[in-house]
Amino acid sequence: MPVLPPAIQASIRKCPNVNKFQEVQQHLAQHSHHWLVTGAAGFIGSNLVEALLKLNQRVTGLDNFATGHRHNLEQVREAVGAGQWERFDFIEGDIRDSAACARAVAGVDFVLHQAALGSVPRSINDPLTTNAVNIDGFLNMLVAARDAGVKRFVYAASSSTYGDHPDLPKVEERIGNPLSPYAVTKYVNELYADVFARTYGTEAVGLRYFNVFGPRQDPNGAYAAVIPQWVAALIRNQALHINGDGETSRDFCFIENVVQANILSALAGKDAANQVYNVALGERTSLNELYGMMRALLADRYAHVAAHQPQYGEFRRGDVRHSQADISKAATLLGYQPTHRIGEGLKQAMDWYVRNLPQ
Ligand SMILES: NC(=O)c1ccc[n+]([C@@H]2O[C@H](COP(=O)([O-])OP(=O)(O)OC[C@H]3O[C@@H](n4cnc5c(N)ncnc54)[C@H](O)[C@@H]3O)[C@@H](O)[C@H]2O)c1
Repeated sequence: MPVLPPAIQASIRKCPNVNKFQEVQQHLAQHSHHWLVTGAAGFIGSNLVEALLKLNQRVTGLDNFATGHRHNLEQVREAVGAGQWERFDFIEGDIRDSAACARAVAGVDFVLHQAALGSVPRSINDPLTTNAVNIDGFLNMLVAARDAGVKRFVYAASSSTYGDHPDLPKVEERIGNPLSPYAVTKYVNELYADVFARTYGTEAVGLRYFNVFGPRQDPNGAYAAVIPQWVAALIRNQALHINGDGETSRDFCFIENVVQANILSALAGKDAANQVYNVALGERTSLNELYGMMRALLADRYAHVAAHQPQYGEFRRGDVRHSQADISKAATLLGYQPTHRIGEGLKQAMDWYVRNLPQ
């Protein structure tokens, strides 16, 4: 039995049920593969790079810093140490440039494609750029991966693909009409991945992330996601706006669960390929509940937080009212078992923001 790195042993001890993931981590401890993470300087990408380097994997990162940051990569370097950092190469490049994509996939076993322009409002304000990055860029990556003979192409899909379908929880096979340009791009990704599998025999796995959160998610800018935006407002004692009545709900998923789903997807057997999977917790939390949990976690560190009150406003265009995933397909075919519920994840995320966010 190989000796696992201490960080992995600790995480397995915390969660004795993660049998499949434990098995995969043991495999990785013995076999070094070459991974390409696109969007490596972003929130999810940088967490994937960190996890893979800690598993002694060789990793190439590709990013053009459109929404990602060099300081995210700096944090990864500090977290993994000099020896593991040596196994990381970074290419500054744009996925809209097919030559950059071809360079990035050279010699790669697995692609974890995260680079995209996120945010529903951004796509409503600028559908052309969202389309160019999320569809043309995706296609460039898919072609490059096919031409390089990559073993598997795992990509970030999105729960926005469920659109206006009323069913809860969301099951992979039942989707509605997209409600934003962003949602269209993410659905087109799934269609291309599927057609490539049929036409060229490539292997892809689409992961429909539900609201992901955790360390390094950007709190700044007009398009920041709800959790980092609210942490910044609470810590800085600024106005915090809740869209609608606060009873809108989401399936908030901690980043470590997403890392697990990506690694499992790359190494799962062939029968798990050319499918899409929900990646979430399988639970629903309202915005009012989320606000309450975050305020409670920050109140003992900042005196002003206990008295903070949110302001309620208009419902946001393109938003779905409720979202909750059925995660049984990922559990059955990938062996996915989320290790962090929302409370545990929020605690870790808050600790990170307290350390990293200037007041
Ligand atoms: N965070 C979520 O809740 C969530 C939910 C569903 C899907 N997703 C998807 O997950 C992926 C990662 O999202 P994230 O939250 O880490 O966002 P992020 O903005 O932090 O990361 C995206 C990264 O892609 C890079 N990028 C953007 N355009 C690029 C281009 N043209 N060429 C190269 N790199 C480019 C950015 O610089 C950034 O580093 C995206 O595909 C997103 O659509 C995220």
